[in-house]
Amino acid sequence: MFVTSLSYFFLLVVLTITSCEEFNLYGEAGQAYALEIDVGHPAQKLSVLVDTGSTTLAIASYARKDSNKYFRSKNSTTSYNSEREVQAKYSQGTWIGHLISDFVKFPSLPKVPEVRCDIALITKSHKFFMNGSGWQGLLGLAYLPVGAWGENVVVGSWLDSVEKALNKAMSFQLKLCGVKSSTNATHYGNFEMLDDDTASLNRNVEFRTPILRKRWYEVGVLSIRVVTNRSTTVTNMTSNITKVTGDTGDIDQESCIKLNEEKSIVDSGTTNIRLPDVLFREVVNELRNAAQTSNMLILDEFWYHGEAACWPEPQEWSLPSITIDLLSTEADNQYFSLEIPPKNFMRVVTARNNSGEGGSVSEFCYKLGLEAGGKETVLGYTAMEGLQVLFNRSAGWIGWYPSDCGPNVRITGPYNISTSLLSLCQLTKPVPDVAVSIKAAQWTLCAISIIAAAVLIYLLAPCIKMMVATPLPMSQQISLSQAALVEQEAT
Ligand SMILES: *[C@@H]1O[C@H](CO)[C@@H](O)[C@H](O)[C@H]1NC(C)=O
Ligand SMILES: *[C@@H]1O[C@H](CO)[C@@H](O)[C@H](O)[C@H]1NC(C)=O
Ligand SMILES: *[C@@H]1O[C@H](CO)[C@@H](O)[C@H](O)[C@H]1NC(C)=O
Ligand SMILES: *[C@@H]1O[C@H](CO)[C@@H](O)[C@H](O)[C@H]1NC(C)=O
Ligand SMILES: *[C@@H]1O[C@H](CO)[C@@H](O)[C@H](O)[C@H]1NC(C)=O
Ligand SMILES: *[C@@H]1O[C@H](CO)[C@@H](O)[C@H](O)[C@H]1NC(C)=O
Ligand SMILES: *[C@@H]1O[C@H](CO)[C@@H](O)[C@H](O)[C@H]1NC(C)=O
Ligand SMILES: *[C@@H]1O[C@H](CO)[C@@H](O)[C@H](O)[C@H]1NC(C)=O
Ligand SMILES: *[C@@H]1O[C@H](CO)[C@@H](O)[C@H](O)[C@H]1NC(C)=O
Repeated sequence: MFVTSLSYFFLLVVLTITSCEEFNLYGEAGQAYALEIDVGHPAQKLSVLVDTGSTTLAIASYARKDSNKYFRSKNSTTSYNSEREVQAKYSQGTWIGHLISDFVKFPSLPKVPEVRCDIALITKSHKFFMNGSGWQGLLGLAYLPVGAWGENVVVGSWLDSVEKALNKAMSFQLKLCGVKSSTNATHYGNFEMLDDDTASLNRNVEFRTPILRKRWYEVGVLSIRVVTNRSTTVTNMTSNITKVTGDTGDIDQESCIKLNEEKSIVDSGTTNIRLPDVLFREVVNELRNAAQTSNMLILDEFWYHGEAACWPEPQEWSLPSITIDLLSTEADNQYFSLEIPPKNFMRVVTARNNSGEGGSVSEFCYKLGLEAGGKETVLGYTAMEGLQVLFNRSAGWIGWYPSDCGPNVRITGPYNISTSLLSLCQLTKPVPDVAVSIKAAQWTLCAISIIAAAVLIYLLAPCIKMMVATPLPMSQQISLSQAALVEQEAT
């Protein structure tokens, strides 16, 4: 009796601990955040990446080289196959497949009803699934104009199906926390659906940026800078925001036009912050200089070529933050700033503590969370970690809030300038033809760099704190294919 109640007690403790655990998103280093999904009847459990850079729920229907986890539509009694061929092209990778429909439910979202929705069943893919990736598909959360398509057909989105079933508008929120400890590179987060009617989040601080066009989550990114010392007020969960004025000389028209020349998007399916080439150079030069000033020896391969840098112990960075200024919904002459600390953009890619184990070395590797990308600006999940980001699809804005987990990102503002930022930065250019935009490549998964452990095994002199630039031929291949795809798109 005593034993049973004791074990019952432990069970309770375990249950309490697990229910406190509010994470439903997981991912390995360099990969985006994945959510567990139940597809079909009887339910088949899979993992899908949560991707605000595309629209379609797309899942594998065949075994890959390294994984035999996939959706068996024949085993689902509720699966309906339209036999229509659909396809999608991402900035990295492509697939073709069939449009089917089936029931979909997310075990970690009990309040969201199970709905029948369109699914793209991937039958063939190229550079889409990663070796050793823990996911079998994508959950696209953007708007229908960028859905996967086929001849006279566009794959409907899961979000639209949920809204139809509930007969009301829904928002969703991503809380991405990054790694939990310095010795484990797995990252965690939370995905949540919010009912627009009963939204009572009681937030006293509101920083919202308008969605300029409802295709991808296209926003106005006004500037990206390295700020060593700027006297601003801090926003956190408990303090009220203090309005700061006078600091208005930060928006440079030329770079602001450049940032938004093609589009600026918020994309949880992309790892890095991707900037137009010129601005990437400017920002990275400053970071590199700051590192040199504080006597950090880091090779240019790390700064400019996306290679990993490794140390025998975890690093604390004494580098400046990167400030991203976003247009505010309040007024077209108003903006606010996200201050992204080095913990975000010095991304952990390997964290292995082997101290005392069979003579193998400990290794802590990092990659720069910034990359150059032609004309586009992409705020990948590196810009979202340490924040809660609310996507209000129907009202057309994205809200940024401090988070109780992850890196300590500050949000400051609002700041006013004397002219309209919409016209200063040419943010209201006409939208290109929708048909074209459907065919345009969907932005997702960019730069998900696979970290092959084998490639990273390096011998480090244990007593010398030295920097080793690890060449990753694979990641170079990936950027080449990206470039090729970007070329294609531009034509
Ligand atoms: C799917 O069906 C096949 C045969 O129809 C069966 O062998 C297999 O075990 C089933 N798989 C699952 C996951 O139910
Ligand atoms: C994936 O893994 C397989 C076998 O493990 C290997 O042959 C192949 O080269 C890997 N592909 C990539 C892109 O790493
Ligand atoms: C990191 O943590 C996860 C979950 O806690 C665990 O499954 C994984 O094995 C850990 N990885 C390493 C390298 O310790
Ligand atoms: C979305 O925006 C609308 C209009 O501003 C608002 O009524 C609704 O509560 C918002 N939803 C959430 C979840 O904040
Ligand atoms: C940054 O500001 C703080 C306090 O305002 C000051 O103590 C510090 O010297 C400044 N650092 C630099 C590099 O200007
Ligand atoms: C925030 O501002 C409101 C109204 O100005 C005030 O009542 C409240 O005490 C403030 N909260 C904090 C934490 O300062
Ligand atoms: C948040 O603000 C409160 C009130 O200004 C302050 O006491 C607290 O230290 C701040 N917390 C952080 C993490 O900055
Ligand atoms: C690595 O492991 C050793 C022994 O288990 C421990 O003493 C050390 O603190 C660990 N290092 C880190 C960075 O956690
Ligand atoms: C900023 O501009 C908005 C709209 O033009 C105005 O309502 C607000 O009072 C201004 N704030 C400051 C601090 O100047």
